Amino acid sequence: MFQLKVLFLALLTAAMAKNTTSASATVDWLPVFKLKVRDNRAIDYTIEIGSPRQTLELRLDVGNANLWVPGADSFTACPTARATSTTADSTTSGTASAYVTPCAPLGVYDLNSSSSGSYFSGVGDIAVDSEDDATGVDYSYLDGIEISGHLAVDGFDFPIQDAFRNGSSVNHSLALQDMRFLYANDSNVNTGALGLGIPCHDYSVSFIDYFKKADFIKNSSYSLVTSTVNKSDPVLILGGVSSTRISGDFYQYDFVPVVDVTQRFVTINGGYTDTLPIVPITGIGVTASDGESVMFPHTFTEQNATGTYPKPALLDSRTLYNFIPYSTLIELALELNAYYASDMDVWLVNCDVGSVGTIDIHLGDLVVKMPISSVLYEQKNDDGSDLVFQSGDKACALAFLPDNTFGYSLLGLPFLKNIYLAVNNDYRTLAISNIVRDNKKNTKADVLYPMESETIPLARYNNISSYSEITMTVTTYALKPSQLPKYTEVFVSDGEVYVTGSDDSPSTSAGPSPSGSYSGSTRSAASSHRQSTALPSLLVLLVLFVYFL
Ligand SMILES: *[C@@H]1O[C@H](CO)[C@@H](O)[C@H](O)[C@H]1NC(C)=O
Ligand SMILES: *[C@@H]1O[C@H](CO)[C@@H](O)[C@H](O)[C@H]1NC(C)=O
Ligand SMILES: *[C@@H]1O[C@H](CO)[C@@H](O)[C@H](O)[C@H]1NC(C)=O
Ligand SMILES: *[C@@H]1O[C@H](CO)[C@@H](O)[C@H](O)[C@H]1NC(C)=O
Ligand SMILES: *[C@@H]1O[C@H](CO)[C@@H](O)[C@H](O)[C@H]1NC(C)=O
Ligand SMILES: *[C@@H]1O[C@H](CO)[C@@H](O)[C@H](O)[C@H]1NC(C)=O
Ligand SMILES: *[C@@H]1O[C@H](CO)[C@@H](O)[C@H](O)[C@H]1NC(C)=O
Ligand SMILES: *[C@@H]1O[C@H](CO)[C@@H](O)[C@H](O)[C@H]1NC(C)=O
Ligand SMILES: *[C@@H]1O[C@H](CO)[C@@H](O)[C@H](O)[C@H]1NC(C)=O
Repeated sequence: MFQLKVLFLALLTAAMAKNTTSASATVDWLPVFKLKVRDNRAIDYTIEIGSPRQTLELRLDVGNANLWVPGADSFTACPTARATSTTADSTTSGTASAYVTPCAPLGVYDLNSSSSGSYFSGVGDIAVDSEDDATGVDYSYLDGIEISGHLAVDGFDFPIQDAFRNGSSVNHSLALQDMRFLYANDSNVNTGALGLGIPCHDYSVSFIDYFKKADFIKNSSYSLVTSTVNKSDPVLILGGVSSTRISGDFYQYDFVPVVDVTQRFVTINGGYTDTLPIVPITGIGVTASDGESVMFPHTFTEQNATGTYPKPALLDSRTLYNFIPYSTLIELALELNAYYASDMDVWLVNCDVGSVGTIDIHLGDLVVKMPISSVLYEQKNDDGSDLVFQSGDKACALAFLPDNTFGYSLLGLPFLKNIYLAVNNDYRTLAISNIVRDNKKNTKADVLYPMESETIPLARYNNISSYSEITMTVTTYALKPSQLPKYTEVFVSDGEVYVTGSDDSPSTSAGPSPSGSYSGSTRSAASSHRQSTALPSLLVLLVLFVYFL
């Protein structure tokens, strides 16, 4: 099943000059947020806002800056019964459509009922009483998320966890008064965000900057572990790096700049910005469990263009898939024996392939090894049974899709859950290592290093020769509107996948997708969600992001 092919030429020249930065300063304390990983697919944080306190959860967003909440005037909290439902049966699709206002799965916030909260005017820089006087905003982000609403201010309680050297920990919270945020009246995703990015819209503010102003942290920076592998805690550490979270080499990168030729998402500076966490992929390959590696070709073909690695990719914590060049995806599909199911627009693979090795993302000197099991999504039928191939083997969706869908490459959650990520927004630098996969409870005392310069503590410079010439170009996405709803379909109803053309090797020269089809009608998961006609059609795709508990 996992056939390794001829080894392609090794992409990177070995023996590159490396140096490790000295990280002398340490700190005793940094704000550590404990995160909740939902269904292995979404990373959330519980927060309390206003007085009396209202509790809701926000989804972590590494690409975007705003802290925004679904406002009670325009959103209704979803019934909690839905979240505890264990079967993904057809009743869930019926309930959501019954609501007049969209249902927010992780809660809503009501500004009216908070005595400490009010609307805010960005122009006058003052709190205002009515929505009419508040600054209205309408943001669209590169990853396709759109939000509109008004500026507001209120008090926030950030629950934090302090771990002591003796192994015990204590829960408390940090209160920040008069924090500005976005009170949303519309969005194509119904879960609010804890934005970790750099503000790049008018009136946009980062909650991390409040922690910096309050002197809790030095620079506007954070590090993040989103994995639950071997019971490691998913945490967000503001302002610094934790020594025990790093596995192997920890490499530093500058943010790769982006040019959005469509100027649809990046509207400033003629579509140019260097404020997004974009990293250069220098190659993609696989390693079998016996240690044998394959590197896919250095050149790739897209719809009607060819290119060579390095290819920049946006890091995004709200996207379920990795979007990579089309021809590289074909190579990956061949290695894993994955079939393209056109009705679902996903690549289906025998779930057993999860145990046979890793998919390797090369970022210059760093190789992020993602166990194949960590990039597979189980597929269920309407009745809750497993989707299976004719052989009876379970079918999983491969968490990779072609990047012409987006018009640029993107590394989403399946990548993030395999790395330790540190970002210093003030200097637009980031560092990445593999995650610690050791089962043993780490006995070494954790040492925290503050981020306080362009150099990320404990990281070494990465050597990518053509680094300075790399720019990410966002082109018009190739997706036809008629194809869109398919991307939201995750389930099939008939329970079985029929692979008809398993002998036909897909021809990479001709470019078409591998043959293969599956039986059964599909159910549109999207239909259970509101589709705002005011939003561009591409955004329907992103309904995926809220299709969680
Ligand atoms: C990166 O590696 C190349 C090839 O080994 C070397 O020529 C170059 O000097 C290195 N650059 C840096 C900045 O270390
Ligand atoms: C480490 O390498 C970077 C560039 O790769 C260079 O700018 C820096 O001076 C080096 N530091 C040391 C201590 O050699
Ligand atoms: C909040 O107050 C405004 C103005 O008084 C009102 O229009 C709106 O319906 C209220 N929202 C809620 C959720 O009560
Ligand atoms: C939502 O907010 C935006 C920006 O202020 C405004 O233009 C729009 O009319 C509002 N929509 C609704 C339904 O209130
Ligand atoms: C661990 O250390 C903290 C802070 O020094 C202290 O408050 C706590 O009581 C200690 N716990 C134990 C079990 O010793
Ligand atoms: C801290 O909170 C978590 C859940 O939020 C709970 O599981 C844990 O027991 C709490 N720890 C302490 C020391 O209260
Ligand atoms: C690819 O095709 C699209 C439309 O088919 C066209 O707009 C675009 O310019 C082409 N790109 C290249 C690099 O040829
Ligand atoms: C969990 O830890 C064990 C023992 O250290 C290791 O063999 C295993 O690969 C780890 N699991 C994952 C998913 O990394
Ligand atoms: C980062 O932190 C250092 C140390 O406190 C400080 O000197 C520097 O000004 C900070 N950088 C920015 C851009 O705030």
